[in-house]
Amino acid sequence: MPIRGHINLPGDKSISHRALLIASILDGENYIYNLSTAIDVNNTMQCLNQIGIKSSRQKNNVVIKGNTFISSQKTLDCGNSGTTMRLLSGLLGGLNISSKLIGDKSLLKRPMDRIVNPLKNMGIKISCNNNTAPITIKESEKLNGLNYNMNISSAQIKSALLLAGVSSNNKITINEQYPSRNHTEIMLKNIGYNINVTNNTITLHTIKHNLKNLDIHIPGDISSAAFFIGAACMIPNSDLKINNVLINDTRMGFIEILKKMGAGIIIHNQKNVNGESVGDIQVYYKPLYGIDIDDKNISSMIDELPILAVVATQAEGITTVSGAKELRYKESDRIKTTVENLKNMGAKIIEKNDGLIIEGPNILNKANIKCYNDHRIAMSFIIAGISSGNYNNIDNIDCINTSYPEFIDTLKKIIR
Ligand code: S3P
Repeated sequence: MPIRGHINLPGDKSISHRALLIASILDGENYIYNLSTAIDVNNTMQCLNQIGIKSSRQKNNVVIKGNTFISSQKTLDCGNSGTTMRLLSGLLGGLNISSKLIGDKSLLKRPMDRIVNPLKNMGIKISCNNNTAPITIKESEKLNGLNYNMNISSAQIKSALLLAGVSSNNKITINEQYPSRNHTEIMLKNIGYNINVTNNTITLHTIKHNLKNLDIHIPGDISSAAFFIGAACMIPNSDLKINNVLINDTRMGFIEILKKMGAGIIIHNQKNVNGESVGDIQVYYKPLYGIDIDDKNISSMIDELPILAVVATQAEGITTVSGAKELRYKESDRIKTTVENLKNMGAKIIEKNDGLIIEGPNILNKANIKCYNDHRIAMSFIIAGISSGNYNNIDNIDCINTSYPEFIDTLKKIIR
């Protein structure tokens, strides 16, 4: 079943969360165009709404009136969204807004010390329950700046700290080992915050220039595009164009690795929109070869590793992934869930503590897929099914709505 045609995608989920959170602290009206349709992003909007931030939405365009917070002890439900919980904790901690953040069964299992500890170092009265949510934030007297070495490469930690610095008006310096997605830095700089990035050190200064309101056009989501890109590069006779999609370097790991594997990928019409690189991505079938992926590559393709594993089953030779232990702390343990489901389809795959080894090419068979309510596992294995010429049975397809409710409709348009 080749994949052919032209498509557009809803706005990038990571940028959408940040646009809502940053708009919420800016006086007056902020305009966001092509907001993500993900349930995760809607959770961020609902949480903000509960603490006084009004928004009006027409289709995917949103107007947010910022800086109208009401301080009351609220329980905020972040659903399945780690980004909502971690970034909102930073923002509310810095604003000194008492609150309790909860989430669904999966989110309640994910590690939170990674943000709670550095936020405590800023003087924020924040706590969690044995490294997991609920997270409780209480009013604190005086907050201070922070100089922090991140021992985990994580844009969620970095952004939580930057938002705490912005909302409490404190200087923040963060050193990261490998560059993680930098949308928070780009957005803050674009509206007038004084933020410097040298090598892997990010410094947010307290002196601001005339701050502008947000007026942002969000490009298509590169992590959602990854499923179609993966399909088109491994299914013979495919040729697909995805228009107006985010091509920020810190998110391009999947595409860079696919190119090294031999994939046919061309970027057209590259431009800068609100500080972010945007372009049209053309992907066509070419034979693929196995590759070694290590810790240097991981943060720029963290969400794309399950679909990369699927693609690797169709590549000639061995593909290894290492330095990817963080995958175990996502919406599901993505090393375990990817290995279990690919094995069920007949792939030659070995689980490692921090990654996987795959030997290809391998004919995949139709299987019953357990996606553990993880949207990216569900979409990866829909694509795996299509590449095998069959449709897999997925146990809970609705979890796709977490990030990409239009996925199936768009896919139907491009399967030939
Ligand atoms: C995200 C960062 C990544 C990614 C997540 C979204 C973000 O998590 O996996 O889906 O928007 O900041 P980490 O930063 O924890 O790796």
